[in-house]
Amino acid sequence: MLITFEGIDGSGKTTQSRKLFHFLKERGLPVHLFREPGGTDLAEKLREIILGKEMSERTELLLFEASRADLCSEVILPLIESGEIVILDRFTDSTLAYQGYGRGIELELVKRLNDFSTFGLRPHLTFLLDLDPRTALDRVREKTRFESLEFLEKVRKGFLEIARKEPDRVVVLRTDMPEDQVFDEVVKILKERTPLI
Ligand code: TYD
Repeated sequence: MLITFEGIDGSGKTTQSRKLFHFLKERGLPVHLFREPGGTDLAEKLREIILGKEMSERTELLLFEASRADLCSEVILPLIESGEIVILDRFTDSTLAYQGYGRGIELELVKRLNDFSTFGLRPHLTFLLDLDPRTALDRVREKTRFESLEFLEKVRKGFLEIARKEPDRVVVLRTDMPEDQVFDEVVKILKERTPLI
């Protein structure tokens, strides 16, 4: 089973994905946690390049997809095939939201590249941690080149559009509350939507 956490920078998905990882591990379940871009030696090298340097939109898109293709073929697909649980801090919806809705690259092209790099793998459940970009920018101390208000507004709208189109997969969570309350919601939805707990 593949569970993903998505949302704009500062939405708390890293915290929530770690909490869920520990929660499932404590229950003895075979669970793994990765973040994108990254997760393999090659993908971590690509991460440094992508986050560290200005580049064209198309180059950026292809590098995110290259990182994903490596992580999927080397790690995620074999784990899923052997029945393990994988939690991902960002996945294909980030590319659709940031490079598609945010940078304006044709959505259908991004979707095809997503399917190509994942070999068609789709998450069973996605938590979209929704947050007002103004609050998000206040929270994110170390600014990267992905974080301007106008850009994050477009990305947020993109994420919400994805959630609207795929309500069976994507659950939108409000994050203007303490972390523990957000996590209570995560657990509640997990109980409703998966056989895990
Ligand atoms: P990171 O430091 O991991 O940010 P965060 O903690 O918010 O996840 O940096 C990842 C950045 O890369 C983040 O700004 C979102 C961006 N990104 C894309 O633009 N497209 C993608 O497909 C992915 C996976 C990330």
